[in-house]
Amino acid sequence: MKGLILSGGRGTRLRPLTYTRAKQLVPVANKPVLFYGIEALAAAGIRDIGIVVGDTRPEIQAAVGDGSAWGVAVTYIEQDAPRGLAHAVLISEPFLQREPFVMYLGDNLLARGIAPFVDEFLKTAPAAQILLARVPNPERFGVAELDGDTVVRLVEKPREPRSDLALVGVYLFGPGIFDAVKRIRPSFRDELEITDAIQALIDRGETVRPHVVDGWWKDTGRLADLLEANRLILATRGRCVEGDIDEESRIEGDVVVARGARIRQSVVRGPAIIGAGTRIEQAYVGPYTAMMNDVLVRGSEIEHSIVLEGAEIADLANRIVDSLIGRNVRISRQPAKPSAYRFMLGDNSEVGMRW
Ligand code: DAU
Repeated sequence: MKGLILSGGRGTRLRPLTYTRAKQLVPVANKPVLFYGIEALAAAGIRDIGIVVGDTRPEIQAAVGDGSAWGVAVTYIEQDAPRGLAHAVLISEPFLQREPFVMYLGDNLLARGIAPFVDEFLKTAPAAQILLARVPNPERFGVAELDGDTVVRLVEKPREPRSDLALVGVYLFGPGIFDAVKRIRPSFRDELEITDAIQALIDRGETVRPHVVDGWWKDTGRLADLLEANRLILATRGRCVEGDIDEESRIEGDVVVARGARIRQSVVRGPAIIGAGTRIEQAYVGPYTAMMNDVLVRGSEIEHSIVLEGAEIADLANRIVDSLIGRNVRISRQPAKPSAYRFMLGDNSEVGMRW
């Protein structure tokens, strides 16, 4: 069994961050989303992994290397443009050969990993096995219609979904999928859709097994989902305080403070994680906050947020919440007069203010 992780694409829903970074490398609880996928495949016993990459190949390759950190061998497969998930399968045929494989979307996260699904697939050997989850907003996903245990129809991002069962970004395929991806045509969004390829299998009378996942699943392509994934993972991280904390500070609950972090006259209330080299001074860091390395928070309050390397937050009057703050971003209080906002924001930035 081989693994295929899709890590190309454009990440338009996380702009402006994804102008300068692959969306699969945005950290959840201070670890790139993509690493959770590699770990899930490795834990399911998969050792040979192809990673489909696009424009952000250098960054992804620099982060993942040859895979030896996870005990796997990684082969990079270059996709010239994001032409769809089925296109990614098509160009990966020389790597996959005719072995069964797991396709894992590099921005997806599953609470319980994938090992049981791989076992089930190997035992039953269907043409494909899909994972499904009930969601409140199925129109944002591929949607499955079932008749008992049989998949009747799959539709990509339907305007009027006929069920609330979304396709999770983990698929298991036998070699029949290659004929199917060759038979389909580009969709309304001009992509070769894997949903259409699986539908082509169904139309030929091949077995497509559904499996409704228990435990949570997140597609981290949007801010709200990324923050939720961060919240869910932080809640499992426990407490480990190795940084330098002064006597005037309080570290409450499940907080991870990396060695080399420095906390002065502050309160950090978990679940939270603070990276190495980060300084927190006269500040409050509230639950569900993940701060990468070399961040500075001074005289400010923040919670339920993700802060990337080198950002500085200083002397703010209001608490920051529900935010994703990019690398080396600076947010600070300005001189009292003239009373005004001063910005230098990248294209597609979003700012929310109380007045
Ligand atoms: O997250 C689950 C959903 O993923 C499914 O419900 C949908 O049926 C499926 O089409 C997919 O929808 P998205 O619109 O969320 O896919 P996205 O464009 O975000 O791509 C998913 C991953 O695959 C992402 O890591 C980028 C990568 N990718 C995407 C395309 C289109 C590639 O590597 N190459 C591509 O050509």
